[in-house]
Amino acid sequence: MNRSSLPKNEVLELIHSTLKHDKSYKNGNVISTMCTYPDTFAQQLFSTFIDRNIGDANLFPGVVELENEVISSLGELLHNPDAYGNIVTGGTEANFLALWAYRELSGKHTIIVPETAHFSLYKSANILNLKTKTVKVTEQRQMDIAETEKAIDDDTFCIVGIAGTTELGVIDPISELSALCLKYNLYLHIDAAFGGFVIPFMKDLGYDIIDFDFSLPGVSSITIDPHKMGLCPIPAGGILFRNEELTKKIKWSVSYLSGGHTAQTTFVSSRSGAAVIAVWGMLNYLGYEGYNDIIKRCMHVTDYLVAELDKFDELYPIQHPTMNIVGVASNKSNIVLIAEAMRDKGWAISLFTEHLRIVLRQSVTKKVINKFIHDIKEVLTCIQAKI
Ligand SMILES: Cc1ncc(COP(=O)(O)O)c(C=O)c1O
Repeated sequence: MNRSSLPKNEVLELIHSTLKHDKSYKNGNVISTMCTYPDTFAQQLFSTFIDRNIGDANLFPGVVELENEVISSLGELLHNPDAYGNIVTGGTEANFLALWAYRELSGKHTIIVPETAHFSLYKSANILNLKTKTVKVTEQRQMDIAETEKAIDDDTFCIVGIAGTTELGVIDPISELSALCLKYNLYLHIDAAFGGFVIPFMKDLGYDIIDFDFSLPGVSSITIDPHKMGLCPIPAGGILFRNEELTKKIKWSVSYLSGGHTAQTTFVSSRSGAAVIAVWGMLNYLGYEGYNDIIKRCMHVTDYLVAELDKFDELYPIQHPTMNIVGVASNKSNIVLIAEAMRDKGWAISLFTEHLRIVLRQSVTKKVINKFIHDIKEVLTCIQAKI
């Protein structure tokens, strides 16, 4: 902190100079991330209502009303308009809340997750003092059902299935997991942090895609993040429970707040009302058809990328993409060297053990893919020349 005050333009200059090497989600060369550049309307809503704190619910009853409408809209999208939930800080908090709610209800301490689970589940298990059993995935990188059943023991209270894995966008066999959870009386949490805003629209567009939502009777809760494919500003994760009863052990009463007595089912206490309002705004401004069009375009570019990769001898898509996430692998060059060289060329790219991950969000257009293909060809030539 400066001892004396500085003029605003000087403060701004200092900030800009420190941030000069930061990338923006707006840039086409950011092909690594699941988050999106928020729509300008969402930005406008966010800044207009920046002061709203939905943690003090009775001070901001209008925001609570909008949150209820957001949850029932998302519930409708996921085949349960009566779902109960909140807009939270992100997928991490959403996953945490589900595990917390079920640990408290069951009094047990073991969960089962696929090896493709996002690390937020391990973080949550660590905080909640849970034992995590990790189940292998099949060749299609889906949770192995026989192995899952074998892993269930007397202390197990919850299975987590992923609808849109972080590494490749794969969907676990959720209807089989649903049957398993009904058979053994377990909670089933679905992490659709990314896939929640993709799968329903893909289904509508005619893609043959796995069921993952509340239409399956064993599904207890779903993480669905508006700040990923929903074009909303961070922080906007979403947690939806099949019904409010499931949250009864994580409902905390607070009496001192300026709006009066309230009860919260989130981890954070003060919570961004601006984020909730931006989500409400985007759901209504874009509407179902707007999101459908976005997913249609993203899938079109996904197909284009796969077709371009098919022209290479050395590069290939690690498996046929389930949704708008493509894993690019090489049968010749070290993938770490490729990633490093692409980063040197200005690409923000995710690196997994065997592949580069490209998330085909709306800012990743065909033009971006053409430039990516051009640059990766140069990189491969360079690497081969050095070998
Ligand atoms: C499947 C999945 N779940 C949860 C998360 C965590 O979301 P957040 O970063 O919003 O906390 C991610 C993030 O990429 C994810 O891919």
